[in-house]
Amino acid sequence: MTQAETWSGRFNEPVAELVKQYTGSIDFDCRLAPWDIQGSLAHAQMLCEAGVLSADDLAAIRQGMAEILADIEAGRLEWSLDLEDVHMNIERRLTDKIGDAGKRLHTGRSRNDQVATDIRLWLRDEISRIRSLIQALQSALLDLAEAHAEVVMPGFTHLQVAQPVSFGHHMLAYVEMLGRDDERMADCRRRVNRMPLGAAALAGTTFPIQRETTARLLGFEGICQNSLDAVSDRDFAIEFTAAASLLMIHLSRLSEELILWMSPRFGFIDIADRFCTGSSIMPQKKNPDVPELVRGKSGRVIGHLMGLITLMKSQPLAYNKDNQEDKEPLFDTVDTLVDTLRIYADMMRGVTVKPDNMRAAVLQGFATATDLADYLVKKGLPFRDSHEVVALAVRHADGQGVDLSDLPLAVLQGFSGLIGEDVYQVLTPEGSLNARNHLGGTAPEQVRAQAARWRKALQAAD
Ligand code: ARG
Repeated sequence: MTQAETWSGRFNEPVAELVKQYTGSIDFDCRLAPWDIQGSLAHAQMLCEAGVLSADDLAAIRQGMAEILADIEAGRLEWSLDLEDVHMNIERRLTDKIGDAGKRLHTGRSRNDQVATDIRLWLRDEISRIRSLIQALQSALLDLAEAHAEVVMPGFTHLQVAQPVSFGHHMLAYVEMLGRDDERMADCRRRVNRMPLGAAALAGTTFPIQRETTARLLGFEGICQNSLDAVSDRDFAIEFTAAASLLMIHLSRLSEELILWMSPRFGFIDIADRFCTGSSIMPQKKNPDVPELVRGKSGRVIGHLMGLITLMKSQPLAYNKDNQEDKEPLFDTVDTLVDTLRIYADMMRGVTVKPDNMRAAVLQGFATATDLADYLVKKGLPFRDSHEVVALAVRHADGQGVDLSDLPLAVLQGFSGLIGEDVYQVLTPEGSLNARNHLGGTAPEQVRAQAARWRKALQAAD
């Protein structure tokens, strides 16, 4: 029996070949097979408990599904476009194996609630996997933060040297971002983990189904409470892709920094050779391909978010075939995230830090000018006046081609009589770091405390 014959009674002619190809989803939704089977087994057990299916039918369905799963795992199952999608392929294979019991499985169910259930079962597993990968990347960044808590680098605003920061502190900024990504994934998973099954096509079913039973068997935390909403809701897919986009944006920002830092103009870091490639023409090149690709791939994930938002906009209730278009963006988003997070954690473990170059860059940029201004305020000068004094001192040092800390005391005192010998303690990058010793500040002591807090949090999440 072909696809056309599945609903053949209604039609005068078979579905056109082109239409079959256009409307079929088996090429990509076959990926949902294990979750489709999981859902069917729970549905069958519930039907049996409700007295709709016999115990013999249930036993046959279980046996048949176990064989189908084994066939899929062994690559023995040949998917057929004639059967349109994964749901009908599996049901037909089951019926071929066990006869009428297979035909009874679809009682009280529709592919509309079935597919919504499959996607949610699949996505909740993937979100769990993504969360552990996020945490593994956080852990790689924590290693760097702890090892380089004392390393001074220029912090930038407007991409101009602003104030000294600890390299560890900079890494911890990304640990924070990833922490929010992890939270968003966890939160999104709660709404993914609600069961549409039982809504049938759109209005529910006349059979005495027990949705609580199916939900419990499948480990759902909640049940979609309105059958129309259950089959048409794809908010969870949009939410997930939005969370994924933010995650990719964070990694894209870090990538941009790694690329800049690795260029000889900065020379702040090196990325292990195994994550770089050369040029076919320029023998000297070592290119940061991995961060560049991550930056590029963030665009495709954001594109999937746009695609899904547009897919849902103006769709009338309840199920429409449009929704079949939710799968490829979701699959590609998950694949991109998983691959990116994996390679990123490895790559960060292959980053070498060059503290001397970072420190030299701090000294080139008058990064301790604010420290000098704060110093004068502590000696009694109003901040606006001290800002002006320091601006003049910077202009002078710039003209001489030296750092503020290179100016002799007598010269500094020419700008303000409040300046004393102790000024040199605040003019060093290290003094500047250590002075910012408060919650959220860049002092190495704070960096170590934050890293320890995150370590504990990650251990608790394990
Ligand atoms: N392949 C379909 C999808 O992915 C399954 C649901 C089809 N339902 C329907 N009424 N045609 O959405």
